[in-house]
Amino acid sequence: MSCEVIGEFKSVTKRFGATMALDSLSLKIYRGVNGLVGPNGAGKTTAIRLSLGLIKPNVGSAELFGSDCWRNSLVVRSKVGVLYEKLAFYDHLSGFEQLKLMAKLKGVSVSLVELKELLGIVELDTGAHDRRIGVYSAGMRQRLGLAQALIGNPELVILDEPTSNLDPLNRAKILELIPLLRKEKNVSFLISSHILPELEKVCDNFILMNKGKLLRQGTLEQMFDKSSSSIKFVIKVQPVESVAILLKNEEYVEDLSVIDDSLHVVVKDVTLFKQRLPLLIGQAGASLDEVKMIESDLEAVFKSAVEKEA
Ligand SMILES: Nc1ncnc2c1ncn2[C@@H]1O[C@H](COP(=O)(O)OP(=O)(O)O)[C@@H](O)[C@H]1O
Ligand SMILES: [Mg+2]
Repeated sequence: MSCEVIGEFKSVTKRFGATMALDSLSLKIYRGVNGLVGPNGAGKTTAIRLSLGLIKPNVGSAELFGSDCWRNSLVVRSKVGVLYEKLAFYDHLSGFEQLKLMAKLKGVSVSLVELKELLGIVELDTGAHDRRIGVYSAGMRQRLGLAQALIGNPELVILDEPTSNLDPLNRAKILELIPLLRKEKNVSFLISSHILPELEKVCDNFILMNKGKLLRQGTLEQMFDKSSSSIKFVIKVQPVESVAILLKNEEYVEDLSVIDDSLHVVVKDVTLFKQRLPLLIGQAGASLDEVKMIESDLEAVFKSAVEKEA
């Protein structure tokens, strides 16, 4: 994870009548891929709208790229692209026409070649770009939204629940684009979701929220460090037995079994496990194919973090 901070909330409180949507919220947004995670009603959309200068904090302040999100919202928005939770398109336009219009409204000049490149990245270039948005599937609309958020080469792209209305295949398609865009366009992301495991593979910084408050912030491993629950890993390694024998003697290993060609290991200290595993594999003269964290355990961490605060 890059350590460069590109945004920060400083004790932000936002009330809507009697509802405390953000409650003294402090967090940092880093260059890279940031996951904003919390159950429905946690305040994710409010935090996003506030960072775009659409909402004024009652107390505290937020800044992106050194500019105050409320007072200098135009400067902030010139560096940010956004995909809102509720997508609104001009359904009678084609995907191509929509992007052209949005570029114009955003006041950026984008060449036809660039627009076509954007449509290509989200796989809407072959025919689809010429059809009315009204006939697009949910997945296509979401990918068009992502392309729209990328207009004008923003430094940060904010995606509010980009996968919540999609089937698993289309979810995966959206999520696959994130590391690609991170690399090729050098763009950072702030992605909100109510499902933590979904963001596991794409984010390098996690912000866990509940009831307008920050629960935890850090890397995936740091999410686990503060949790008392044990985490299960499935390791594909060859030869599997030699690694199993070495792992058995490690004090942080709570349970271990060999199933088919894989090692199923339950550990209580993820950081230590990740440090030791390569050494043990080397010692065993084995070769590693894959290490997978079992997702349901990540969901458990999330639930326990949220429940602890309830
Ligand atoms: N414009 C608004 N008026 C009144 N209440 C709001 C408004 N926007 C959000 N809220 C309330 O603030 C809380 C946080 O909402 P939201 O930011 O949408 O959460 P999330 O995006 O995490 O689901 C909820 O209780 C919601 O009902
Ligand atoms: Mg929301």
